[in-house]
Amino acid sequence: MNIAENPTTESLEQFAREIRAGLCQAGQKTLPSKYLYDPLGSTLFEAISLLPEYGLTRAEERILRQYSREIVRRVPKPAMVPELGSGSGRKTRWLLTALCERESLSYYPIEISRSALSSCKSELRDIEHVSIVGVEREYLDGLREVASLRPHGTHLLVLFLGSTIGNFDSGADARFLGEVRGFLLPGDSLLLGTDLMKPVDQMLKAYDDPLGVTAAFNLNLLARINQELDADFNLRHFRHSSTFNEVTGSVEMHIRSTREQTVSFRREGFSVTFRKDETIWTESCHKYSRESIGELAALSGFRTEAQWIDDQWPFAETLLFAS
Ligand code: TRP
Repeated sequence: MNIAENPTTESLEQFAREIRAGLCQAGQKTLPSKYLYDPLGSTLFEAISLLPEYGLTRAEERILRQYSREIVRRVPKPAMVPELGSGSGRKTRWLLTALCERESLSYYPIEISRSALSSCKSELRDIEHVSIVGVEREYLDGLREVASLRPHGTHLLVLFLGSTIGNFDSGADARFLGEVRGFLLPGDSLLLGTDLMKPVDQMLKAYDDPLGVTAAFNLNLLARINQELDADFNLRHFRHSSTFNEVTGSVEMHIRSTREQTVSFRREGFSVTFRKDETIWTESCHKYSRESIGELAALSGFRTEAQWIDDQWPFAETLLFAS
């Protein structure tokens, strides 16, 4: 079952608007990273999570595999479980399995990527006593919808895994969690995954692997735009690049134009010129410290209940309660 799929034309118009705004603004060109996850992008991200250089996903899965029962013991019953960005669902399996040992429950993956939603649902279909209700919405719209379905006395356990919080600009992360907090009641909780600061060359390798999978993932956004907006990006004239920004503590992902060139968007009737070496910024991935996670939580109206850290790849899973 799914809640409220957006009509395709509306999402195509929104896609076109956001792409145009990002490429036509003065200064740094940008593209929204949420659009990286079309069917090919989602598959490439799955491949990234298997790369030896990209330890995040495996670290989080180790934590959830090992500590799900302990996490669940700290969460009051009965619970309903919305997840912001379901991904493949593989990591969530450990939590849902631990939760349904004590009660049947509903799980609400919230995703704008239809392909991610359907692979998550088929990945988790076999877990007994869990009914899966896909919510094809942006995170906060989806959470508002799920919160409105809450039966009296039920507690929300919101999952926000994979360090997606690190993809918000500095300051926007606390604002976003503050908005999440706004949908919660005392007794509700948030399980938050965050990647931790580590040596710069290790972080850079995680976002620029020698096989070129990450490059393909980033450049696929241009291929998607070509297909959906009838544009003519020549992918051979753009390169993936990642850098570490010491000031913000984030790895930044860009797509660099290797020459001066003009790209036409025939469906929309506009064009964009690029200087040689001009970049499109697609995503930043902020790396946290244990202290900065606590500060972020406090700023957004949460108290830290417990935290688990992987011993092979610095990554933290933190259980927060609405304070
Ligand atoms: N947001 C994820 C992360 O911070 C996804 C990601 C991995 C990513 N590699 C990327 C996003 C390359 C853009 C470009 O790890």
